[in-house]
Amino acid sequence: MKRWRNYIIGICSIAVAGLVGAAAFFFWPHSLPQVQASKSQPTGSELIARGEYLTVAADCAACHTTKSGKPFAGGLAFKLPFGTIYSPNITPDKTAGIGDWTDAEFVRAMRSGVGKHGEDLYPAFPYSSYALLSTDDILAIKAYLMTLASVADPAPENSLAFPFNQRPLMRGWKFLFVPWGPFQPDPGKDKQWNDGAYLVEALAHCGECHTPRGLMFQRKQGVALSGGDVDGWKAWNITSDKDYGLGNWSDEQIADMLTAGHAKDRGVAAGPMREAIDLSLSKLPKSDIDAIVAYLRTVPAVSGDADHKAARRKEEELTAGSTPTSASLQAGKDIYAGACASCHGWNGEGQFNPHAAILGGHALADPTASNVVRVVLQGSSDHASAPGKTMPSFAKTYTDAEIAALANYVVEHFSGRKGTVTAEQVSEAR
Ligand code: HEC
Ligand code: HEC
Ligand code: HEC
Repeated sequence: MKRWRNYIIGICSIAVAGLVGAAAFFFWPHSLPQVQASKSQPTGSELIARGEYLTVAADCAACHTTKSGKPFAGGLAFKLPFGTIYSPNITPDKTAGIGDWTDAEFVRAMRSGVGKHGEDLYPAFPYSSYALLSTDDILAIKAYLMTLASVADPAPENSLAFPFNQRPLMRGWKFLFVPWGPFQPDPGKDKQWNDGAYLVEALAHCGECHTPRGLMFQRKQGVALSGGDVDGWKAWNITSDKDYGLGNWSDEQIADMLTAGHAKDRGVAAGPMREAIDLSLSKLPKSDIDAIVAYLRTVPAVSGDADHKAARRKEEELTAGSTPTSASLQAGKDIYAGACASCHGWNGEGQFNPHAAILGGHALADPTASNVVRVVLQGSSDHASAPGKTMPSFAKTYTDAEIAALANYVVEHFSGRKGTVTAEQVSEAR
């Protein structure tokens, strides 16, 4: 997985860049400054409600609750080639969870990635975005978490090999890449834009997935939101660029994608985006979604390589399936005819489930077909519809070579581009 490959290179470069590390050792704020809520912070049940809203918008559950686990008890594995780290239990349990953390310790964790005992936390915990949260909001999140059911089971121990288990290595990284203060509203912009900026940059941390990463796993803020990688899924360019990003999308299309995971003529969002939608974005008030859209409109346009331009065939060319340009693609077409066309049709329209309307989706025009391969392997359930109509997993049905042929056919059929997927890549994606 590229994300983690970058991560290793990143950690190695930090180890090498000892100078920065050494400097950071002295400068990184491990001290525990006193924190206090402002006068405008609500109290009582209003505070808890605010905290619950913020916890949903920040999608803490995506990483701290496992599919079959108790809420916020942690234990989600982040598998790296050199070991595994687990998200911790953040329920109010005093030993297994964070029940005996002080406010100052909690604020320090969210802002500076420092644990209760001063240990440096890995940036798989997206504190480089949460660092922009206001102190009031961080305290409201803590107040809400403290009302949850305690869970006494600790998360499993991390198993990282030396030198990656050396947490102080993170200090160099944090020194370079974590913002030093909370989000500052731009007085030249209106409230809606500022609300949107706060949601996108801090709370909903869109950039953690949608911004490309550099060699040190840092987000490249110069090309923010121009497309990233998350566990092998491509998180597309969402800048205002007309050809590569959302510049040609209507407000309604963006809002529908964010709240429902599908939008007319723009396909669907699966994988990690589906999860962000189900757990977080679909639960936000409309005013928040409108604010996100308003802010995204102003994100500077960034283009990409020609392969990432949106592309689709005209509907009339799709009819009964385009003619494959090779024998291997014919095998892909045969699979599509037998296993996919019943739900997606040859023209990419949803047959029994309108959510299966995939025509126009960015994923179908990507020659590497990363997301097509993954959705075929993993399936994707749009929660709105009945079982039997959602995207099933075909991991056990087809071989790597068959899935490669299928994905290449899907790309060629819907976009006219040449797919480049190999059986090895499918095997890696499994
Ligand atoms: C993308 C995944 C992800 C998200 C989203 C996330 N966390 Fe975490 N969090 C982690 C991981 C992984 C760790 C462990 C890091 C380590 O071991 O260095 C962690 C660590 C923590 C810790 C330190 C706990 C300890 O015992 O040291 C706290 C507190 C925490 N997270 C709170 C939150 C809150 C509150 C939210 C939402 C505002 C949140 N996290 C969202 C992945 C995430
Ligand atoms: C956990 C990672 C993650 C987070 C957080 C995330 N996204 Fe995504 N997003 C993705 C992935 C992956 C896709 C591609 C889904 C697919 O092709 O099926 C995607 C797709 C999208 C799309 C559709 C783009 C297209 O061209 O089809 C939009 C719009 C979008 N995201 C906006 C956002 C916004 C706005 C936020 C923050 C409010 C956000 N995303 C947060 C991972 C993420
Ligand atoms: C039972 C109906 C059903 C079948 C069969 C089915 N799909 Fe899907 N598919 C869906 C639905 C519904 C979605 C939207 C999922 C969501 O919203 O999370 C979807 C989504 C997709 C996407 C969009 C992924 C993205 O990231 O944009 C692709 C590509 C896709 N399916 C390809 C296929 C292929 C190839 C096959 C055959 C192997 C297939 N589907 C079989 C129902 C189906």
